[in-house]
Amino acid sequence: AIDPQFHENRDKVDEHEGHAVWGPVDEPEELGIHGTHVAVDFDLCIADGACLEDCPVDVFEWVETPGHPESEEKADPAKEAQCIDCMLCVDVCPVDAIDVDAG
Ligand code: SF4
Ligand code: F3S
Ligand code: ZN
Repeated sequence: AIDPQFHENRDKVDEHEGHAVWGPVDEPEELGIHGTHVAVDFDLCIADGACLEDCPVDVFEWVETPGHPESEEKADPAKEAQCIDCMLCVDVCPVDAIDVDAG
């Protein structure tokens, strides 16, 4: 499961589409965590898609990740600022790849 303390245990190493990327990153096999309020551990995501289907405000978008061992696309929290903290994505992800900091 994603480490809920990732902002303390990892370093912000990059930005992607306006959100943070938390390392380590060593492409294409190691991609880190994308987002902060809505955080997706790309190294755990298996592209199940439930988060994209269920999010009521369409926070997630697919990004291509060719060469990653778990899946070749990931759910990117492209619009994390729109999140309404319903926690549906956290509940439906089969590999617990998502953390939402509802405060
Ligand atoms: Fe979308 Fe709810 Fe997840 Fe926020 S907590 S990203 S609103 S499904
Ligand atoms: Fe990935 Fe979990 Fe969404 S596996 S596509 S983050 S439901
Ligand atoms: Zn991203």
